[in-house]
Amino acid sequence: MARVFVSRQLPGAALERLRKAHETTVWSERRPPTYEQLRAHAAEADGLLTMLSDRIDAPLLEAAPRLRAVANYAVGFDNVDLAAAARHGVAVGNTPDVLTEATADLAFALLLAAARRLPEALASARNDWSDWEPTGLLGAEVWGATLGVVGMGRIGRAVARRGEGFGMTVLGSSRGSGSSLEELLARADFVSLHVPLSADTHHLIDADALARMQPTAILINTARGEIVDQAALAAALHERRIAGAALDVTTPEPLSPDDPLWRAPNLVITPHIGSATRSARERMAELAVDNLLAGLDGQPMPNQVSVTREAPAA
Ligand code: DGY
Repeated sequence: MARVFVSRQLPGAALERLRKAHETTVWSERRPPTYEQLRAHAAEADGLLTMLSDRIDAPLLEAAPRLRAVANYAVGFDNVDLAAAARHGVAVGNTPDVLTEATADLAFALLLAAARRLPEALASARNDWSDWEPTGLLGAEVWGATLGVVGMGRIGRAVARRGEGFGMTVLGSSRGSGSSLEELLARADFVSLHVPLSADTHHLIDADALARMQPTAILINTARGEIVDQAALAAALHERRIAGAALDVTTPEPLSPDDPLWRAPNLVITPHIGSATRSARERMAELAVDNLLAGLDGQPMPNQVSVTREAPAA
């Protein structure tokens, strides 16, 4: 039996399979383990089942001589230093596909919420709803608008399909195909981000990119916070250079209470819930356990990632 550490309680029954096969410790506190606590557990473990918020870096891998397998409970794996894992002979797996539709649904929900100013409307219904106003809470029309999808991977394509269902003109940009980012930003009424976080996509949406967007445009990010330069976004929203934004991901998570974004007009923020449907999260748990069992067995993981395979966005 190998020793396994799971850094959060998971939904569904998948962990039972792990418990039957290996000596399994599951972190049971409400708050996640700190980096130091994770490192202490990793030091004793043959396998780890980790969250996207767990940093699996070179010093942690260095301090984990027995470690052979890391199953990340996410499609993204920018939290794992893949090169260091490869150097230490540690296999790394992720959980693609099963969260694609859930994440695309959330991206579209955020698009609609920002277009129709739902946070303001909900607050108004509770606090100051006096009468029906012809000019009250006017938002943007989604039907027939232009949707720009940055990153046409699995989730980007799923968002594009939703856009088509809303009669939208869809512009997709991917490395080397589709519209150029510049053209997409200039033409889209809604820009939805679905690229993985990497050195190339860090702050892809910076002040220059925001300046290319139309003043009526809305930005949606369900991928990773670091893809957007948040200071530039806060300034663009405060100065009304774009009409709104909807973010499921921020830097850091949670966003600090004094971040200027909280005071920005027409901003919707959700706490990284892209994959948060019961079935997606249960299926992610099954995939993560499959990966870990295979890795500990010395077999290729069903969804193994490597230094050359770039992280898909979520
Ligand atoms: C992922 O799997 O990478 C997502 O961000 C989780 O929702």
